[in-house]
Amino acid sequence: MKKHERIALDSLLSRSSTDDLTGPAPKGEELETILSAVMRAPDHGKLRPWRLALIHGDARAKLADRVVASMKRIDPEVPEKKIEKRHHRMSTMPLTIVLGMHLRPDNKIPLIEQELAVGAAGMNLLNAIHAAGYGAVWVSGEITYDPVFAAELGFPAPHALAGFFFVGTPKHEDHEAKRRPVTPYIAEWNGEPVTFEADKD
Ligand SMILES: Cc1cc2nc3c(=O)[nH]c(=O)nc-3n(C[C@H](O)[C@H](O)[C@H](O)COP(=O)(O)O)c2cc1C
Repeated sequence: MKKHERIALDSLLSRSSTDDLTGPAPKGEELETILSAVMRAPDHGKLRPWRLALIHGDARAKLADRVVASMKRIDPEVPEKKIEKRHHRMSTMPLTIVLGMHLRPDNKIPLIEQELAVGAAGMNLLNAIHAAGYGAVWVSGEITYDPVFAAELGFPAPHALAGFFFVGTPKHEDHEAKRRPVTPYIAEWNGEPVTFEADKD
C-alpha cells in the first residue's frame, strides 16, 4: 500500500463522533474544501440531492429559537429543562451544517436511492471534517421530521432534512471511540441465504 493510501485509510479508520466541541470551526477556503467532499458521494442519476445550510455566528441563536418552537409544536408539554439544554446546544456549537435532501418523488430514481445518496454525502462530510483535523457529530431528533421546521430552514415538502452536523475543534484529542471487529458483520454467500454472527444472540 502506498503511503498516501495508508494515510487515507488511517483517517477513515480513526474517525469517531464528538459533540464536545469548541472553536475554531473550519471557515473560508478550508471549509469549502471540506464541503466539496459531498460532491464525491455516489449519486444515481446525477441528481445531487444534498443541500448544506451553514449556520454560525448570530444565526445560531435564531436556529435555537426555531428548534424550541418546533419542540413545543411536537410536544406542548416538553419539559423546560429539555428546552434549555437544546437551546444552549444549538446556540453554542461553533458551526452547524444542516444537511437537507432535495427530493424528487416523481423521478425515475427511487426515493430511497436519493436518500441513500444524501446519506453517503453526510458520511463523506464527516470523513472530510475528520481528515482536516476537526470534529463533528451527526444528530437528528424529532425536529428533523417536523415539516414546518424543515420549511423554515428552506426545505419545504417534498424536500426534507437528513440531520444536523455540529462541527468544531474537539475539546479532547483522545475522544476516539473503540470499535467492534467487523468479522460478525461479514458472511460469504455460496448459494444459500447468509447468516451473520452479529444477528445471533
Ligand atoms: C441519520 C443519523 C442521525 C443520528 N441522530 C443522532 C441523534 O439524534 N443523537 C445521537 O446521539 N446520535 C445520533 N446519531 C449517531 C451519531 O451521529 C454517532 O454516529 C454516534 O454517536 C456514534 O458515534 P460514532 O460515529 O463515533 O460511531 C445519528 C446518526 C445518523 C446517521
